[in-house]
Amino acid sequence: MKYDVAVIGSGPGGYVAAIRCAQLGMKTALIERYATLGGTCLNVGCIPSKALLDSSEHFHNAKAHFADHGIKTTGVSVDWKTMFARKDKVVADTCAGVEFLMKKNKIDRLHGHGTFLGGKAISIESPDGKTSEITAEHSIIATGSKPSALPFAPFDKKRIISSTEALSLKTLPKELIVIGAGVIGCEIGSVYARLGSTVTIFEFMPSAIPTMDMTMGKELERSLKKLGIDLKLSHTVKAIDVKGKRVTVVAEDKSGKAVEALSDYCMVAVGRRPYTEHLGLENIKLKPNERGFISVNQYLETACPGVYAIGDVIGGAMLAHKAEDEGVFVAERIAGQKPHINYRAIPWVVYTWPEVAGVGYTEQELKHEGKPYKSGSFSYRALGRARAANETDGVVKVLADNATDEILGVHIFGARAADMIAEAVTAIEFRASAEDIARISHAHPTFTEAIREACLAATDNRAIHS
Ligand code: FAD
Ligand code: NAI
Repeated sequence: MKYDVAVIGSGPGGYVAAIRCAQLGMKTALIERYATLGGTCLNVGCIPSKALLDSSEHFHNAKAHFADHGIKTTGVSVDWKTMFARKDKVVADTCAGVEFLMKKNKIDRLHGHGTFLGGKAISIESPDGKTSEITAEHSIIATGSKPSALPFAPFDKKRIISSTEALSLKTLPKELIVIGAGVIGCEIGSVYARLGSTVTIFEFMPSAIPTMDMTMGKELERSLKKLGIDLKLSHTVKAIDVKGKRVTVVAEDKSGKAVEALSDYCMVAVGRRPYTEHLGLENIKLKPNERGFISVNQYLETACPGVYAIGDVIGGAMLAHKAEDEGVFVAERIAGQKPHINYRAIPWVVYTWPEVAGVGYTEQELKHEGKPYKSGSFSYRALGRARAANETDGVVKVLADNATDEILGVHIFGARAADMIAEAVTAIEFRASAEDIARISHAHPTFTEAIREACLAATDNRAIHS
């Protein structure tokens, strides 16, 4: 079969690229080795983790916060089977939605593992071992990533597990150890802490979510501790040992003292690695870089003409919406358009509660680059909507250029940060100044008023309510 475009991998990068190619009139094939479409994000990432975060948050609120609102509850408990079945249904429905979109856009969904035979030829090995071949004028590699293991403790998927297994445990662990206080560690650690597990997180950096703005890490640390999580920062894990159903983790704190912890499971969440196995890169004369990522130019084209790569497999922020944006970008490039992506305007969200969200420069990046900046913060404590909701743990921090007042970064810790960050993304994309946002009407009472107030604080300390 002959195609204009073949997309390998059906995660948010691949399936979105395929839809955009089809919209632009190209005959498109989407090759996926797994039975369901949607990749990491839909099957074992964003969607199941958010389903469990929401369910566990309801349970936690019922137990810990309803009484503050004058709502009495007794005998609140978790029906594990129903909670996990709901998560599985959300995943199945979402994957089926992508399947529907493929049909609607007349995209051929080819089930099997794709391997390049040459620049324009791809073989597909289906799960029953049969091989077929297609040709395509252009190809898009969107093969994503897999969890990274610690070199001394490979995943056994039973006791030393990744996020994939952690999202499908059969019973509630009494104890869970997490290695890495990054996004996965904080999100999945929160799920189990809320449901009643004793959770210990080992992190070798001095802060949680160290790639985000430092203020956010400090705020999140406080809320994780409130949830009962034992957060062991500046700890280097030295060994993980499994004996029967128990896992022992040995770490070293910053003074060199050995620290030991015992649990039912150890979830290793120390980052993800690009996935390019049996992709036949050697047949198109491509070699992954020293960290395993596929290198691309500014148009996301590899060194093999006509072969593009997007999403987790090329590195950068490993985020579903970054992969999607790159999918659209490549489809439009192939169609001869001139799309653009502003990587500085791609937001980050951590779906703990309170949530954390950020976009643009972090304060430590501005310091590191020596960019003169000013900063304005506003606490949720002074926000009417936050008080009404009993959600006063929160802060918005706005970083703006010292001379021009252009917004360079916005970082939010607090209720609804995930949705509020969209305003900051728009501001950064359109190069708004802090004064611009401060002069825009914000509905009262809403959480978004905190963004306006933080912008006022950044412009000559003019916040009204602090
Ligand atoms: P993937 O989604 O990894 O998809 C790649 C696909 O390619 C897979 O289906 C794979 O089977 C297929 N494939 C690989 N090789 C071949 C081959 N040779 N032939 C055929 N098929 C192949 N990001 C967010 O933005 N928000 C979140 O809330 C979020 N939560 C997450 C939670 C967890 C627990 C995890 C693990 C990740 C989360 N992410 C989140 C990250 C997000 O899932 C990834 O950034 C995103 O899925 C990357 O998309 P992708 O298209 O590059 O690759
Ligand atoms: P991560 O890069 O976010 O965090 C890994 C953490 O592990 C870091 O804090 C790092 O310092 C720490 N670490 C590394 N080696 C360690 C060691 N030996 N001992 C102790 N700590 C160690 O990676 P994570 O959490 O695995 O997630 C992978 C990717 O998935 C993320 O980068 C993110 O892009 C994506 N993701 C996004 C989500 C979202 O957008 N809400 C949710 C979950 C994942």
